[in-house]
Amino acid sequence: MTRRYLVAGNWKMHKGVADTAAFLEELLAAKRPRNVDVVVCPPYISLPAAAMLLTRSGIGLGAQNVHWESSGAFTGEISAPMLADLDVGWVIVGHSERRTMFGETDETAARRARRAQEEGLTVIFCLGETLKQREAGETIDVLRQQASVLTDLDPAKLVVAYEPIWAIGTGRTASPEQAQEAHAFLRSELRGHFGDEAANKVRILYGGSVKPANAADLFRQPDVDGGLIGGASLDVPSFSAIIRAAAHLAAGASS
Ligand code: PGA
Repeated sequence: MTRRYLVAGNWKMHKGVADTAAFLEELLAAKRPRNVDVVVCPPYISLPAAAMLLTRSGIGLGAQNVHWESSGAFTGEISAPMLADLDVGWVIVGHSERRTMFGETDETAARRARRAQEEGLTVIFCLGETLKQREAGETIDVLRQQASVLTDLDPAKLVVAYEPIWAIGTGRTASPEQAQEAHAFLRSELRGHFGDEAANKVRILYGGSVKPANAADLFRQPDVDGGLIGGASLDVPSFSAIIRAAAHLAAGASS
């Protein structure tokens, strides 16, 4: 596979400054494979401490959201230039928790993503269907609609995360076949948007109850290029085990 695996931790509303520092010190002290890209996405408040600890570490730093304006009267928001100032290179956009709890839409997610890319950040754009939509046979239509807003984005600074909502934080994971089917469909949509060459380089992550025990089976699928990990990214042993699962597959593919 020409795409490098990417394992990204979405810490959600976990880990203030002290816990972030403790986690990263432990992660940095451990031996880490070099054939996998790793990103951690702490809460905003912990980004400055994380940025200091991760300098020249090779581990990427991401935020969990970003506003579409550079500055202004937007109480509680953080802008892309503010993140770039801190050497934050990545940002999660359109997570289902933002969509279901905080009114995020395809359009607002796309605006955030565009502004972040203009500032040089790589966007991890999340999408995925609900259980009701899956059971009604609407998965493909939902993904087509959600992916339609990606056309305006720069594929070179884009990662797509397929996260079926019924699998997030539920312990219920999509089967490797279900993941591959959705990823292959998303890849074909990306080809339509960006052409074959650019689309083949975009990494499509799977997210939703990825654990050390199921990571390898998911990551082995041809269009699964790594994972966006929630719960299992919160402690170093399980996050490291998921990174190692990707590293093993990458080593196998290159030998
Ligand atoms: P989970 O979360 O791994 O805890 O299911 C994934 C996500 O929401 O990104």
